[in-house]
Formats: sequence, structure tokens, C-alpha cells
Amino acid sequence: MLLNIKEELGVKIPELRLADLVAKVPVIQGGMAVRISMAPLAAAVAEEGGIGLIAGSGLSVAELRAEIREARRRTKGIIGVNIMFAVREFAQLVKGALEEKVDLLVSGAGFSRDMFTWGRETNTPVVPIVSSAKLAKLAERLGAAAVIVEGEEAGGHLGTDRSMREILPEVKEAVKIPVIGAGGVVNGEDVAEVLKLGADGVQMGTRFALSEESSAAREFKNYLLNAKEEDMVIVHSPVGLPGRGIRNPFTEKLKANADVKPQGCDGCLKECEHTFCVLKRLIQAQSGDVEEGLIFSGSKFHKIKEILSVHQIFENLKRELLQA
Ligand SMILES: Cc1cc2nc3c(=O)[nH]c(=O)nc-3n(C[C@H](O)[C@H](O)[C@H](O)COP(=O)(O)O)c2cc1C
Repeated sequence: MLLNIKEELGVKIPELRLADLVAKVPVIQGGMAVRISMAPLAAAVAEEGGIGLIAGSGLSVAELRAEIREARRRTKGIIGVNIMFAVREFAQLVKGALEEKVDLLVSGAGFSRDMFTWGRETNTPVVPIVSSAKLAKLAERLGAAAVIVEGEEAGGHLGTDRSMREILPEVKEAVKIPVIGAGGVVNGEDVAEVLKLGADGVQMGTRFALSEESSAAREFKNYLLNAKEEDMVIVHSPVGLPGRGIRNPFTEKLKANADVKPQGCDGCLKECEHTFCVLKRLIQAQSGDVEEGLIFSGSKFHKIKEILSVHQIFENLKRELLQA
């Protein structure tokens, strides 16, 4: 009923404008490595009017190119890639993605001056993830088309211990480019809250990890779905950053300082503390080993009660957003 009244009054879902791209729903599906946000998820999000991101970290250039092509085959919507600056193959993966003509490039856990040059050369919007107004300003000066402000609520590697709700208004003051809020956004009420803080859009990770189309194994999804709020843990990743995830036998070993060093090392990160192999542990979790893998998750996972299709997630988001 409320929905109808609002529709009659002309209340609409705001679009997200980012360079020349227009997303009908102001939602970016966060890149989730390794192999969690692949072509099926990114394409399903793009089909719903959001922005779908394929996570490139941990993939070979050939695999990333194949995923981009598969996503393009499935949708005419907006498809981008997320690549973590920390991976050794960052430049090769970015260049491969740009050659495949992705619509946008998102960098996680850092950014470089070069990537803005590469974006300019191919006319591709470049969007770094930042966690302070200072970094947002620097990114804008270097040519960012928008910034994603990730707070401590987010899943995966964390660049700050402050809430996105606190940092976002500061970033909004500091820059003129679009600002997207990420961390702890799982439903339409959360989206409305972040838009009210001044955001032009949101990025959501965990809600989409728990979708039918996410490429995480059923065991991963069920483990996360059944976890309790108190099962949330912060681990120290060998990348040199804290990471937010879910307690399991592997995180208990980390806590007990057990030796979990990898047998071999293929030097997949530019810099690594070699305490454990983060990419291998993420792949283990994604493929269903919920005991020994690393299960990344945002802080509000416990508000998610079921695995839904991306279509249903968007229907719910739009309804809740209009009602908020
Ligand atoms: C399983 C998982 C994997 C992630 N992998 C990446 C990644 O590869 N690169 C990145 O920049 N962010 C990564 N993130 C962060 C998300 O893209 C997103 O910003 C974050 O999850 C937002 O918080 P939320 O999960 O509370 O929505 C990951 C998050 C999760 C839950």
C-alpha cells in the first residue's frame, strides 16, 4: 500500500550515475575473491539494473577474460571487475580486463597512479576503494570516476577501524565525484540509511555471497547462514591488513598461533607475511572446505536469513527502500 502511495507521489529509486554509466538501482555488487563473484552473479546483478563486479584476484588473466566474456554473453547490463592492488598480477589482470572492454575497474586494498592512466587510455572509469577523506581526495585528483568508501563493517580486508557511517559524510564533503558506501548494507533500509548520509549508491558484498548465483559452495553459504553474531572474527591477513570473517577451526588455529604456513608458495602477492596463504585459504572456503578455509564476511551477516536469487534480493531491496 505504502509502495503504491509513494509511486503515485512519484517517489522513485534513485539512479547511480558514474561517468557515462547509469545504473537504474544504486547498488554495486562488491567484488568477492576468490571465485565468489564470477560471471553468473555479476551478470544477474547487472540484469537487475545494478552494477555487477567479477573478482579478478586469484584468477589467471585467461580465466578473468573468459569470465568477462561469459558475463557479457548473459547480460547487456553494467559489468566491471574488482582486482586487489596487493596481487602480484594486478597490472596484467587490469590490462586484460580493459582489453575485454569492461565498463569499470574497481581496485581493492590500495591503488596506483598507473591504473588511472590505463583507465584514461581506454576511457574506462576507475573506482578505488578508500577508507578516508584524505585518500578519496587523492583518488579524485588522480582521476577516479567515483570512490567506494568501505568501513570496518565490511567483509574481507579492512583498511580502517572506523564505521563507514562516520567516514562517508567526511568523504562527501571532501570530493565532488560520486561516493558509494560499503560495509554492513544487507537490506533496503540499510541502503536508504546510507543514501541519507549523502551516498550516491552502495556496495554490498555478503548479501550477494549468500545468493543463488554466487559461486561459493553450498557448504560456504550454509556455514555463513548458520553462524551466530558472536562467531564473527578479525584475523590478521598476510597481506598486512586485518580481515573480517567467520570463526572456524582454521581461525581457531590462527588464534592459537598454530603453524599454518603453506607447503609451497607461488608468490601471488606483491608483499606477503607468509604466515598462511590467504588466496589458497579463500579458495578452500569457496570450494566448500569450511573447516580449513577462510570465510570472509561483513559484520551484518546475521541479519541475512536465507539464500535468495539475485532477482528476489533486488525485489526486496527496492520494496524496502521505497518503504524506508
Ligand atoms: C567473501 C568476500 C570476499 C571479498 N573479496 C573482496 C575482493 O576480492 N576485493 C575487494 O576489494 N573486496 C572484497 N570484499 C569486500 C566486498 O567487495 C564489499 O566491499 C564488502 O563485503 C561490503 O561489506 P558487506 O559484506 O557487509 O556488504 C569481499 C567480501 C567478502 C564477504
